[in-house]
Amino acid sequence: MKEANKLNITRSQELFEEAKTLVPGGVLGARKPGDFIEGEYPIFLEYGKGSRLTDVDGNEFIDFLCGYGPIILGYREDEVDDAVIKQIKDKGFCFTLTQRYQNKLAKKLTELVPCSELSIFLKTGSDATTAAIRIARAYTNRIKVMRCGYHGWHDWCVEMKGGIPEKFYEDVYEFRYNNLDQLEDLMKKYGDQTAAIIMTPFGHPIHQKMEIPKPGFLEGVRELANKHGTVLVFDEVRTCFRLRMGGAQELYGVTPDLTVLGKGMANGYAISVVTGKADVMMAAAQKLFISSTFFPNSDGYIAALKTIEILERDNVLNNIWEKGNRLLANIQNSIDKYEVGAELSGVAPMFFITFKRNETNTQKEKRDDFYTQLIRKGFFFTPHHHAYISYRHTEEDLDKTATAIDEAMAYVKEKYQK
Ligand SMILES: Cc1ncc(COP(=O)(O)O)c(C=O)c1O
Repeated sequence: MKEANKLNITRSQELFEEAKTLVPGGVLGARKPGDFIEGEYPIFLEYGKGSRLTDVDGNEFIDFLCGYGPIILGYREDEVDDAVIKQIKDKGFCFTLTQRYQNKLAKKLTELVPCSELSIFLKTGSDATTAAIRIARAYTNRIKVMRCGYHGWHDWCVEMKGGIPEKFYEDVYEFRYNNLDQLEDLMKKYGDQTAAIIMTPFGHPIHQKMEIPKPGFLEGVRELANKHGTVLVFDEVRTCFRLRMGGAQELYGVTPDLTVLGKGMANGYAISVVTGKADVMMAAAQKLFISSTFFPNSDGYIAALKTIEILERDNVLNNIWEKGNRLLANIQNSIDKYEVGAELSGVAPMFFITFKRNETNTQKEKRDDFYTQLIRKGFFFTPHHHAYISYRHTEEDLDKTATAIDEAMAYVKEKYQK
C-alpha cells in the first residue's frame, strides 16, 4: 500500500512560530501539536461546514473530532446560527438580568433528562462539574468525592497538578470504570464522609479504550450512593444528546441525583448545565453563590433550544446510530482482516480505534503510522481522543472513511511485516 503524501502545513507552522511569541506554548491544552502527531497535523483551522474542516493551508478534512464534542449537527448549521444571529440583532443577548429562555430550556430538560427537576445554566463543562460538586458538598455537609473520568480543568479534578495546593484535591479519590469492587472498598472506608460520586456513566477514559457498563455496574454504583447517603452525579458532558437525548442514564436505565451536561446540546455555543433532583439542587439557592457575568447570556440558550428542536424534529440520534453502526462494522472488518493489533471500542455516536500493547512495543509506532495515513488522506481523527459522528456526516463521507481506514491498516500491515 502506497504511503500517502505528507500535507503542506507551512502556514500553520508559521502561525505557530508567531503564536509562541504571543501565547505561552503557542496554543494551550488539548489543541497543542503534541496532542496530535507533530509535523503531520495542521495547527490552525480556517473554516468548517457540515462534516468538513479546512485548515489555513487549504487542506480539507472530513472531521471526526467535532470540536472535541459540541458539534452534534455539523459545522455552521444554518438554522442554529440564524436563530442566534436573530437573537443578537433583534433583542440582544447580554443583559443585567436574565432573559426568559432560561425557563423554557429548563422545562425542556425536565422532559428529556431522567433526573432533571431543577437546572442551573453555566458556560463550560468544568464550570458545571465544579458546581455539581459544590452543590453535593453543601447538600450533604461532607467533603470527600469519588470520581471516575475526565471532569475538566478545575483544581479538584485536573490531571496535571501543577499550581494546585494538595489540599484542593486531597479529598478526591479516583476509581476505575467498571470496577465496582474498588469503589465499594473506598466507600467502606469513607462512605460516611463522601459527598459525591461523580462519574461518566459511559466509560471514556483519557487516551484509552472506551467501555460500556458491565451488567450491574451502574446499578451497583447507584446502590452504594443510596446506602451511604452520597449524591450520585453523572458527568454526561459528552454523552447527553449523543447516546440518547436523555444521555447514558436514559440508555442504561440508571438515574443519578445530579447530572452535568454541555457539549452536544448547543452545536458549539457555550452553555452547560447542572440538573437534577429538586431537594439536592435547592442547595444551590440556599447555601451557594454560583454566578458569572456570562452565565445568563442568551446566545447559548437560544442555540441549545434550536439544536434540541432539530435533534428531536429530524430524529438525529437515530440517524447517527444507524450510519455509525455501518461505519463501525466496516472498521471491524478491516481490523479483523489485517490483524495489526488495532481495537475498536465505543458505540456508533462515539468510538475509538486504539492499538494493543504488543511484545515488540511497536503499538505506538503503528498507531501513529495509522493516524498519520488518515490525516494525510484528509480524515481528521487523532490517536489521543475518540471520534464522534455528527448528523452532517453523509453516507458517502463514511464510506470514504471506511476505505481510508482500510488502506491505512493495509499500510501498517505491510510496513510492520517486513
Ligand atoms: C466528560 C467531561 N466532563 C467535563 C468536561 C469539561 O468540559 P469543558 O472542556 O467544557 O470545561 C469535559 C471536556 O472534555 C468532558 O469530556
